[in-house]
Amino acid sequence: MQFAGSHIISVDQFERADIEAIFAVADRMEPYAHRRKITRVLDGAILGSMFFEPSTRTRVSFGCAFNLLGGHVRETTGFEHSAIAKGESLYDTARVISGYSDIITMRHPEPGSVTEFANASRVPVLNGGDGSNEHPSQALLDLYTIKLEMQGRGGGIDRIRIALIGDLRFGRTVHSLCKLLSLYRDIDVLLISPPELKMPGEIVATMREAGHSVTETENLAAHIGNVDIAYSTRLQEERFGSQEDADRYRGRFRLNHHFYTQHCDPNTVIMHPLPRDSRAVANELDNDLNDNPNLAIFRQADNGVLVRMALFAMVLEVVDQIDNDSRGVNWYTGSRFQKPAP
Ligand code: CP
Repeated sequence: MQFAGSHIISVDQFERADIEAIFAVADRMEPYAHRRKITRVLDGAILGSMFFEPSTRTRVSFGCAFNLLGGHVRETTGFEHSAIAKGESLYDTARVISGYSDIITMRHPEPGSVTEFANASRVPVLNGGDGSNEHPSQALLDLYTIKLEMQGRGGGIDRIRIALIGDLRFGRTVHSLCKLLSLYRDIDVLLISPPELKMPGEIVATMREAGHSVTETENLAAHIGNVDIAYSTRLQEERFGSQEDADRYRGRFRLNHHFYTQHCDPNTVIMHPLPRDSRAVANELDNDLNDNPNLAIFRQADNGVLVRMALFAMVLEVVDQIDNDSRGVNWYTGSRFQKPAP
């Protein structure tokens, strides 16, 4: 695809070569994201960050990624702090904010809303999650993490065995990830969810058309023993009609140290897009796994900065200039960034 000046709305925009191009640029971002070097390649540029749903990782890591490239960030969070609360349309908001910014990141609870916004925007818009629909930058960072974790084990993305666990109906991260996996070869996909929270049929069909083996089940213990990646998800309670509806599924699938040692291959990588719900009633991914070297969740979150830096650099067409005038950092940076388990 043509990255320069494009909106990034859906993973459907990508072919495998595009993913590989993004990952190659993400690799180049490592010294900057890991605070060994500074680049000012986006000096003077402004990111308009518009998050109308709660977010920690996506909002802050998009912002950090832009700052790490030398740009500035202007934020709106929540409808209540935006003129949308006074009845302003997405069209008008997009026309106005795109005059103030060089690029925009946006999260909104309605599927399709980011497309509507992008259609009115005068600058590129990157989708930070639109309802239960898509979360393309999360899928890219998930796949980038899978690549790095499997590389550490002598493998790649083709032929992986992956279990996706939990709310596969409303979980936008797994929707986007499955579509991206369809660009790769011979993947064993295990979809573990209650029947009411199954992966949408069209996404299952896309994976089967790609030649992948797809198994749908609600029996976690019986199937988890033979996977490379166990990808847990949170119940998307905000997408249910009522709290009571969501409560019926809360805590249905729990990964913890005991379960992992009983049922998983000891090399299984544990992933989760985060936030994990650590309340006792849910606790889909227990804190007692925090010291397991195969727990990749924080490496996954760190990788988000590299991938989002890559997207900004490609869409704003500065990849060739990243290393111009770069220099070392002045402050103590420590050694906070973990490598994948060997
Ligand atoms: N993974 C993810 O989208 O996290 P946030 O909701 O914190 O952005």
